[in-house]
Amino acid sequence: MASGMYEIISKKRDGLELNREEIAFVISGYVRGDIPDYQVAAWLMAVYLRGLNDRELADLTELMLASGDAIALDGVPGKKIDKHSTGGVGDKISFIVAPLVAACGVRVPMLSGRGLGHTGGTLDKLEAIPGMNVFLGPAKFREVLAQTGMVICGQTENIVPADKKLYALRDATATVSSIPLIASSIMSKKLALGSDGIVLDVKTGSGAFMREEADSIRLCRTMVAIGEKTGRPCLGIISNMDQPLGRAVGNSLEMIESLEALKGRGPADVMEVTFALGWCMLQAAGQEMAYAKAVEKFSAAIASGRALEVFRRFIAAQGGDPCVCDDYSLLPASRHQEDFLAPAAGHVQRIDSFEAGMAAIDTGAGRRRKEDAVAHGAGFIFHANVGDAVAKGQKIVTINSDRPELLPSVRERLAAAIRIGPQPAARPKMVLHRVDKDGVNPWPY
Ligand code: URA
Repeated sequence: MASGMYEIISKKRDGLELNREEIAFVISGYVRGDIPDYQVAAWLMAVYLRGLNDRELADLTELMLASGDAIALDGVPGKKIDKHSTGGVGDKISFIVAPLVAACGVRVPMLSGRGLGHTGGTLDKLEAIPGMNVFLGPAKFREVLAQTGMVICGQTENIVPADKKLYALRDATATVSSIPLIASSIMSKKLALGSDGIVLDVKTGSGAFMREEADSIRLCRTMVAIGEKTGRPCLGIISNMDQPLGRAVGNSLEMIESLEALKGRGPADVMEVTFALGWCMLQAAGQEMAYAKAVEKFSAAIASGRALEVFRRFIAAQGGDPCVCDDYSLLPASRHQEDFLAPAAGHVQRIDSFEAGMAAIDTGAGRRRKEDAVAHGAGFIFHANVGDAVAKGQKIVTINSDRPELLPSVRERLAAAIRIGPQPAARPKMVLHRVDKDGVNPWPY
């Protein structure tokens, strides 16, 4: 017989294993509204501190998945490969890799989220495009995917409702950065989408939920094992989130950088992560080829304009104005621009991406509270990255904001985030490892 919630919390608090019935009791009781937030919060903290074994994690993921509906994709022809990032600062890879991979004949369905903590959200960035609808029913989701080769949509009420409720509670109770809780949250949503394979971008470093490389590898291995158990290819990379990705941080600004990347003018770090993930996605779809060959295919899709054309059609299919692809002035912009200057000559040694993400929230690009509105034009353009030499007074960041009253705090955070020193610093490697069912290998390229 299942225990009551008090006994289940005490059992996990004491480090004991929960049976499937007990986990089901928590998940279904919470979704129905029978168990109060304070008890589930205590249970989450017990899981955070004590962890879950493989069996408990498999049960939790399955039960979360079973709490809602799935989006079947069998009727959509071709291979469908989903990609998911664990979240970061300046992470606009989805907008580049999805059309690139779609231009190579693989369909890309994605369920994405809003900004969370210091990290930006794919849905917020998409909503910078006038008219863009990021909530689609299953039929429309399939239609956009079949017509354009890609679709990006938010989690609606019926898709893994257990995760919706648990996630909000974790966000408020400091229980986000737990391997079993992140793995079950992400993988329950991935499995709710009937894709043929899953590719994961697990971030590591100052702007990632998992700051330590060893923890990011463990998280990726855990998720790969869950995905592979369902019989679909599941693989991932560990990528660097120790400095903001690319030059732009903020919704419109990142959309412009993504469009520039689709026109062949993407920053090197962004393209490195994009090509690595794209290659993994082609492999998950059964297109085996050397990495150099995949890069050649992606470069051809950019040069011919085919990838940009996929993105244009995807925007139109989800109600957005595709003219933004040619005229960036159609995207929201901030009224106020101000430069942050190098306080001394030297080399950029570090740009702490957690601090940069928090500073971006102060510009208005993200939310401090769930109910806050996002200023789509706000954020940063970085003019220097780790490894660059800078002169005293050189422009390092352009701040875009409609909130002049918060600029002192933005400048203070940027000053804390950016370290300039006399020693030359190496440019960071962006892709660190590849993880698949056979194990973890250092990224060879
Ligand atoms: N993204 C998710 O969807 N869930 C988590 O727990 C963390 C990042």
